[in-house]
Amino acid sequence: MKRELALEFARVTEAAALAAYKWVGKGDKEGADQAAVDAMRSMLNKLSIKGEIVIGEGEIDEAPMLYIGEKVGKLNNSETLSEEELCYLTEVDIAVDPVEGTRMTAQGQPNAIAVLAVGNKGSFLKAPDMYMEKLIVGPEAKGVIDLEKPLVENVKNVAKALKKELNDMTMVVLDKPRHSQVIKDLQDMGLRIYALPDGDVAGSILSAVVDSDVDMLYGIGGAPEGVISAAVIKALGGDMNAKLKLRSEVKGISLENDKISNYEKTRCQDMGIDITKVMRINDLVKDDEVIFSATGITGGDLLEGVKKKGPIARTQTLLVRGKTKTIRYINSVHNLDYKDEDIKGLIR
Ligand code: FBP
Repeated sequence: MKRELALEFARVTEAAALAAYKWVGKGDKEGADQAAVDAMRSMLNKLSIKGEIVIGEGEIDEAPMLYIGEKVGKLNNSETLSEEELCYLTEVDIAVDPVEGTRMTAQGQPNAIAVLAVGNKGSFLKAPDMYMEKLIVGPEAKGVIDLEKPLVENVKNVAKALKKELNDMTMVVLDKPRHSQVIKDLQDMGLRIYALPDGDVAGSILSAVVDSDVDMLYGIGGAPEGVISAAVIKALGGDMNAKLKLRSEVKGISLENDKISNYEKTRCQDMGIDITKVMRINDLVKDDEVIFSATGITGGDLLEGVKKKGPIARTQTLLVRGKTKTIRYINSVHNLDYKDEDIKGLIR
């Protein structure tokens, strides 16, 4: 993948974050998601790529989405391309989450981000939109996690690898009722728990970047978010184990949940995914040549949120290139009056 593309993808999440910002605190999750999807789609279609969306968002809650299988980029119609354009043709798979943290955006709460990960064709697991159990660590604890083993054993192994006492360890867990017991057990062991209300992609990144005190992430969240997390964790040189979960296992047995779970089982069978298997990072993301971009929508532990005064807006973006492991924090100042007409309406 061409290096120059990295900055182009940062521009895509910047536009999505700017579009979602208009909806911050307005109580409308779908409005925010739709605006970010529209901005992201519009920007992706300007790029010299032949892209396919392999992870989208929205099947569970039927939110507006860049749908799985959607073709994006200028080069999708290769018959009409000149020879020169064909030389530059870059075929990529793209995993998107235009608003990771729709509730936080709608309620004006911290840690909402616009994210995407780009890889060579076939590099991402095409996970169905269901739940996923995730265990994530940074580069220093690579190779010591195993989701087949009890969580307590994993925590002790990671602490050993990091040469830390248990009461110096910090873990991110989503603050959901399904995690109440785990959180209590870990706190009883002496761990510091950051219980984020939502947003396990940001939590995953925090466990693998150096300028954070988070050592690990554990918990059950969305599978699409899991693959996006795997992409950035792989790019950062960290490690991840994951296991798909049926809705009935996570939300309890009911007529509705059982119906959804049966559908999830069929989808996994059709896709050749073994739901009982613990997936390792290489099952989730095959190669290192990943580009990951996240732009803050609301300010949080990872990134600053959008700040806007008149036509001037500031964004902060985390851009990671897996091939070289370069991490860039990009602070941009945008004059919205000078943006392309097609996205001006979405962000102005
Ligand atoms: P959305 O942006 O789709 O609302 O996702 C937020 C999130 O917290 C994810 O980070 C997480 O993986 C998932 O929701 C957890 O799902 P649920 O809210 O159903 O527990």
